Amino acid sequence: MDPSRHPVFSAVEADAEPDAAGAFLRVATDYLARTRTHAPPVSTPLGPDDLAARFDEPLPSGGRPLAEVIARLEADVVPDSNHLCDPRAMGHQVSAPLPAAVWTEPLAAALNQSVAVWEMSPVGTVIEARVVRWMCDLAGFGPPAGGTFTSGGTEATFTALLAARSAALPDAWTKGVGADPPVVLHGEHAHYAVTRAVGAMGLGVENAVAVASRGYRMDVDALAAELARQEARGRKVMAVVATAGSTATGSFDDLDAVGSLCEERGIWLHVDGAHGASALLSGAHRSRLRGVERARSLAWDPHKMMLMPLSAGVVLVRDEGDLTAAFRQRAPYLFHAAAGGRAWDQGTRSFQCSRRLDALKVWVALQRYGADGLGALYDGLCATARTLHDAVAARPDFEALHEPESNILCFRWTGDGSLAGERLDALNLALRETFNRSGDGWITTTVLDGRRVLRATVMNPRTTAADVEAVLDSLARKGEELARG
Ligand SMILES: Cc1ncc(COP(=O)(O)O)c(C=O)c1O
Repeated sequence: MDPSRHPVFSAVEADAEPDAAGAFLRVATDYLARTRTHAPPVSTPLGPDDLAARFDEPLPSGGRPLAEVIARLEADVVPDSNHLCDPRAMGHQVSAPLPAAVWTEPLAAALNQSVAVWEMSPVGTVIEARVVRWMCDLAGFGPPAGGTFTSGGTEATFTALLAARSAALPDAWTKGVGADPPVVLHGEHAHYAVTRAVGAMGLGVENAVAVASRGYRMDVDALAAELARQEARGRKVMAVVATAGSTATGSFDDLDAVGSLCEERGIWLHVDGAHGASALLSGAHRSRLRGVERARSLAWDPHKMMLMPLSAGVVLVRDEGDLTAAFRQRAPYLFHAAAGGRAWDQGTRSFQCSRRLDALKVWVALQRYGADGLGALYDGLCATARTLHDAVAARPDFEALHEPESNILCFRWTGDGSLAGERLDALNLALRETFNRSGDGWITTTVLDGRRVLRATVMNPRTTAADVEAVLDSLARKGEELARG
């Protein structure tokens, strides 16, 4: 670049040097060093208005020295973020990310390969196809299978249901879904990604039918009855969506039984394994997905239990042609006909156009830690959730709502048993807020069977039994204070 031009050009060149890169990296490594062991607060005590005030400033028209920018990151961004590597962060399904995958992110950004088409990402496209193939193998999908990385589970399920729509209504792409669209059946505890997809693709959310659960899993008898009811009404069923690792409780539907019902009727089975499909890496837990090979499509988020940093989602289909059929578009500026054989371009199989090479960090993590290593980490997260369950069950002042099937547990503080109903619900809601604001840890809450409950998701391999006990002790102390008023 010509240094006589605008000063921004010299700033751009200076920032390409190792010193500048090192300055950013040091912020990240300092952060990890500080938060890898418990160091309160786990999150910010500030609310959104306080944080917005900090950033309430005019658009910067000129640049500043890099050191000032770095100092702002350190002072204004890092401390009040959620510290997911803290062993007492047990909140949503977002990981304490694996370091080798984290350090791959700057490389992926520097390379900036778009996996829209092969010519934009010659190695990246091939790596994505390789990772997708490994995942298909783990799912038991045969040679015709394929898939694509997605922004996450929501896009994965949307893409899968678009493929199902194309199979059920081949004309939908050109003519729309008509006045009598097919229905989609899903478990009562399915993620909202399912109804969002149904609404977004114009089927009408009234055509997304929830099937009752038993023990937080889809009740297979209820599913059979619902299928019969739809048949009697003369309604076509476009897909059944089963969940492998539900959001609320981490429970797994019986894929074998659901798969049989779908196969008998020729219905598309989509498995939302965004959370739990990573069990396929675990010798101890893979049986929870028994029958997954019967699915026509599978959503699987490496950014959940494979502990990737956001984002890394994947949708797999048993027949790659189903994915291509989901998006029937021409774009001569981008898509070129394959010269025989399989087209490498993924853009024809993805909802996105420009797309990050998220597969790279998954590939690096597999190279560095191995599939067995990731499986062992999965096992560890589940074992810690079991420890939490057992600790809850051993205490008189807490109640566990279910046995953990993965790394999620819903439980309640019940104190001395004198509170019930709405008062106990309100107390648990307030308890979660008070606990999170205290900095002692970070958990979530949901409503289960009409009851307000606390919810912990173990997403950090560093969380120990001592952390679990400390979290429960702190919750109990705060619960008693709140109950006293
Ligand atoms: C079962 C399930 N499906 C889908 C999703 C959505 O995934 P994402 O947030 O990656 O879009 C989630 C997220 O919590 C989930 O638990």
